Amino acid sequence: MYVCICNPMTEKQVKQVLSLGVDSTAGVFRHFGHKVRCGKCVPYVREMVDDHKQQQQAGCGGCGKCQGGEHANEDSPETPAYGVAAE
Ligand code: FES
Repeated sequence: MYVCICNPMTEKQVKQVLSLGVDSTAGVFRHFGHKVRCGKCVPYVREMVDDHKQQQQAGCGGCGKCQGGEHANEDSPETPAYGVAAE
């Protein structure tokens, strides 16, 4: 599903970027080299960023491989390879 129509950006792409360590709405746009145009997507992208942060704080990396409350994927290669400076 597209989350931004002005800049073709899907929910899947945003989730992938968040899993790489991007931790802000602006960072998501910057990662793709996009600029906010109409801004209608910003609340949804912000909600995705906030949800991702809550998962991180709860000890879940959002990999989708949690089993029974245990995080079974802590040392996987899917662990974020880099981070983006917090804004
Ligand atoms: S829908 Fe994302 S900037 Fe317009």
